[in-house]
Amino acid sequence: MSQTLFTNATLACVAGGSGFGLHDNFALLVEDDRIAWLGPMAVCPETADREIIDCENRLLTPGLIDCHTHLVYGGDRADEFEQRLEGASYAEIAAAGGGIVSTVKATRVASADQLFEQALPRVRQLMSEGVTTLEIKSGYGLDCDNEIKMLRVAGRLEAELGLRVQKTFLGAHSLPPEFDGRSDDYISLVCEEMLPRAHAEGLVDAVDVFIESVAFSVAQGERVLARARELELPVKAHVEQLSDQGGAVMAAAHGALSVDHLEYLDSDDVASLAQAGTVAVLLPGAFYFLRERQLPPIAALREQRVPIALASDANPGSSPVHSLLLIMNMACTLFRLTPAEALRGVTLNAARALGLADEIGSLETDKQADIVIWDVDRPSLLSYRVGMNPCVAVMQAGQWRDRNRLVIA
Ligand code: NIG
Ligand code: FE
Repeated sequence: MSQTLFTNATLACVAGGSGFGLHDNFALLVEDDRIAWLGPMAVCPETADREIIDCENRLLTPGLIDCHTHLVYGGDRADEFEQRLEGASYAEIAAAGGGIVSTVKATRVASADQLFEQALPRVRQLMSEGVTTLEIKSGYGLDCDNEIKMLRVAGRLEAELGLRVQKTFLGAHSLPPEFDGRSDDYISLVCEEMLPRAHAEGLVDAVDVFIESVAFSVAQGERVLARARELELPVKAHVEQLSDQGGAVMAAAHGALSVDHLEYLDSDDVASLAQAGTVAVLLPGAFYFLRERQLPPIAALREQRVPIALASDANPGSSPVHSLLLIMNMACTLFRLTPAEALRGVTLNAARALGLADEIGSLETDKQADIVIWDVDRPSLLSYRVGMNPCVAVMQAGQWRDRNRLVIA
């Protein structure tokens, strides 16, 4: 058995309740891949033969979790960024054949190796800020082979980079051009061929759908989620990003793990998320990058105690953002979340959004030892500073993944 003891640490445990779950002068013991014990320094257990890390009052948090990304794709959309700055809207660009469909073209022509190479620096950037779990969606292939190609690349990133990757099938992200005018037929292909095949290859941890005027209707989204449930796969949905279509209520009725975006969610509909135990995933990077004005119904989410998660939504069109620390800052400045809500949003509540809260997301005994050491003395500093990366070491499942910046006295 291998043991590591962290001493003189400030822990932000993010366990039950609200707030940071802050403990000064604590120790934490890792045995193999698990957190075995944590408590005050004064009662720290004595055992020989273990590595001791004196944290010198630095902050320890759970590994960060980015629960919504589209990180695997070909090309970029910097030209559309310029068009939008000249006044075109995201929806207008999509309607004119740009948007998601232009990334689909670039993704289809890219080989799996090319997609992997292009995704590498994006994932490494997130990892450098303490990300230990990452969700990656398909959705830029939009046919069987290309969706499977994307999901395999996501699996290879997990295998080669040593972080946990959850793979989400998003075949119903946008209508591929060859199905123009036949969106119901495309949904049939998604339900009858694409999803079952990807699932049979073991490539699907959850199923997502984009319900929006520029994408699919609530009825079409419901067909996909119902099919996923027949296959006993967890579901989630992109909803109410640009308009209120009623997708969140439908997804919650299907027991969705999360509904994501939510700027146009009606406060009266928040109760259905609370009832279903569905997590609200907010994506301030897309809100910022698309220069949106309409805020998600934060007060109602708090009032109804809906868990709020945050994610980068890293993608080439609406959120080319590769920093969860920046996302935490944006959630505070743009959505007025507290720094404690922001940290919960990228740890425990993000774990819930992935259905992994029994395993990761907090510093508690028996959870997997995914731990970040930060060179700060209190957790609000993580949301407060912009453009600084105080991450000094990352342990993933009890193994040091990166401790290059950890200076041990
Ligand atoms: O989450 N909303 C839909 N999907 C992505 C955007 C993808 C794109 O524009 O390429 C999102 O914002
Ligand atoms: Fe998204």
